Amino acid sequence: MNKSLTAFLAISLAAFGVSAKKVHIPTKNTSLVLEATEGQPLKFLYYGNALSDNDVQTLDAAGTFNRDAYPVYGMNPMNEAAFSAVHADGNMTLDMAVTDVSTALGADNSTVTTVTMADKVYPFTISVNYRTYPGEDVIETWAEATNNEKGTVRLTRFMSGYLPVRRSDVHVSQLYGSWANETRVEEAPLPHGVKIIKNKDGARNSHTSHAEVMMSLDGKGRENEGRVIGAALEYGGNYKLMFDTDDTDYHQFFAGINEENSEYNLAKGETFVTPPLALTYSEEGLSGASRNFHRWGRNHRLAHGNDMRKVLLNSWEGVYFDINEEGMQQMMADIADMGGELFVMDDGWFGGKYPRNNDSTSLGDWVVDTNKLPGGINGLIDAADKRGIRFGIWIEPEMTNTVSELYEKHPEYIIKAPKREAVQGRGGTQLVLDLANPKVQDIVFNIVDTLLTKYPRIDYIKWDANAPIMNHGSQYLTADNQSHLYIDYHRGLEAALKRIRAKYPDVTIQACASGGGRANWGILPYFDEFWVSDNTDALQRIYMQWGTSYFFPAVAMGSHISASPNHQTNRIVPLKFRTDVAMSGRLGMEIQPKNMTDEEKEQTRRAITDYKRIRPIVQQGDIYRLLSPYDGKGAASLMYITPDKDSAVYYWWKTEQFVNQQLPRVTMAGLDPDKTYTITELNRVDNKPLPYEGKKFTGRFLMSNGLEMPLSHDVDWHKRNDYASRILLLNAE
Ligand code: DGJ
Repeated sequence: MNKSLTAFLAISLAAFGVSAKKVHIPTKNTSLVLEATEGQPLKFLYYGNALSDNDVQTLDAAGTFNRDAYPVYGMNPMNEAAFSAVHADGNMTLDMAVTDVSTALGADNSTVTTVTMADKVYPFTISVNYRTYPGEDVIETWAEATNNEKGTVRLTRFMSGYLPVRRSDVHVSQLYGSWANETRVEEAPLPHGVKIIKNKDGARNSHTSHAEVMMSLDGKGRENEGRVIGAALEYGGNYKLMFDTDDTDYHQFFAGINEENSEYNLAKGETFVTPPLALTYSEEGLSGASRNFHRWGRNHRLAHGNDMRKVLLNSWEGVYFDINEEGMQQMMADIADMGGELFVMDDGWFGGKYPRNNDSTSLGDWVVDTNKLPGGINGLIDAADKRGIRFGIWIEPEMTNTVSELYEKHPEYIIKAPKREAVQGRGGTQLVLDLANPKVQDIVFNIVDTLLTKYPRIDYIKWDANAPIMNHGSQYLTADNQSHLYIDYHRGLEAALKRIRAKYPDVTIQACASGGGRANWGILPYFDEFWVSDNTDALQRIYMQWGTSYFFPAVAMGSHISASPNHQTNRIVPLKFRTDVAMSGRLGMEIQPKNMTDEEKEQTRRAITDYKRIRPIVQQGDIYRLLSPYDGKGAASLMYITPDKDSAVYYWWKTEQFVNQQLPRVTMAGLDPDKTYTITELNRVDNKPLPYEGKKFTGRFLMSNGLEMPLSHDVDWHKRNDYASRILLLNAE
């Protein structure tokens, strides 16, 4: 029996059925405490740092919030609810009471505590679940509602979880943005009234707002100190995060599927399972909460979260749709020569009757265009093999175009409202396939299955999704269940992805959705990484990757060196700076190498060699963000440290350039104060080494004093520019 299971039993189950009892859900450093009394609603008592058995027992005396742990709509309708439903007989109220508390070992060595509640009158139950993993400071909570009534129950709200947060000076940090400007950080205190963060894209959900937030409990969030609660809804579809700040002493936080236009008819005997909401608590500031999410995500959510990712070249910004054999061969030769390990052929390689020469045709017709690639995929893979690199390919399986053989044969497979013309997206012709339909799920599975059966040496798939659900209507769902579309789309997508992963557990798959539309812990179990943004401008990426790192680890963050001037911003950025930013995530390239000079290629070759050295620290280490680009101090800085604190990589990027500017000296964090670290600059371009090159400093010194970063690079006159950045490797003796 594992430790958390034992703790729970000792404190609660022994006394269950007799009187009010505490349900203590512990993690390594945190506790969540509920009160479960048979015949009463489940009460929330506490979420925060770890409590002793004594503190759990005397908690009530300290003052707690007398609210339900999973509020339902009906008997106290003036408060916001996590769940509401209309019974088969039209009654709109629920009145739930605890009937059972149980605990079980779940998948992946987890412990799941389940509190079951039944309506006092109707045969309708809701169980609230809490999952913990040994060693992780994350608690996942979700609800399951079962209808045993005589007829269908209409679910009108179905949140994953609810959390009351004591008022103090709570600041919420959220991610916002739009295409090519994703994951910007915004922080603000919570106002009275309701704050809602939501998504209604239908297919993807992280271009604009994100389904994750950080709550800094004691004023503006600090990176490495202070109490922080992090919340991440694990769901790839429409979501709603809601803070209701009413006339009580608490902010009330709800998170779940966005119920708007998604009422769900739960048939007799059916159970509706919400996606999980992951909660974390840290007293080590925002970075501490991020580390908790990263560790848990790498260990339990992200596909192959503990493996290293290959250094790759993706063809998109290098050639766009101009795919041909000679071009692909040349790109493969170049990336192999620079030390890369994988080449990915992006959009434009397919189409039979309609060749894919631009974005207006062919999605759905996943056959090789042999006019462009006479040697086919196998020819390319043979060439990759010869160069000692692996081969990957782009697909967009959930979509079709009106100009495609798939659409000509099966117009009934697209999402479209009855009696309406289909709204068309990218290229003026793109349509979304109706994944509520099991036949469409088969199509999506078969696209991947056919590719990987025919070409088993494919190592990597870039899975794109370039359209939202553009009109509401399923040609598959019945008229009375049209409101199921958004939810059933994601159930269908997940069903197809599950089949793919069951058959192909080893292939690396990137979640791309017009850039960063699919950065969410709900979808990442099927993917190894995501494309942060279609914007590859290094300066803007500092801001986007900073925000991304609040919730997602570097191993999942596709971060590529691209051309200058940048294709999205037209900004001219030197290769050193572009490389130093890309090297803080999963390094790749998004460039036409044939346009690079020999000197640039050599510089990149050295950078890739350096990156391979630090890859385990970056991709598997703990993040400590140090100086935020959003603070407007003229620079940004962060570091990754191995769990044993023996090695670290420090990044510093100048974000503004003025003459005689004064930048802060950045103090480091997370090191072992008593270890002595030797400093080595990586990716060095300067004529002279830094004054501290090869020197040793204690962790204590580096964390209270830091190192001075020169404002510019010591390079020959003609190479001078307005950028400066540094990567330092720190190794303890
Ligand atoms: C959008 C993606 O974000 C790009 O990286 C690229 O794959 C294009 N789609 C291809 O159409």
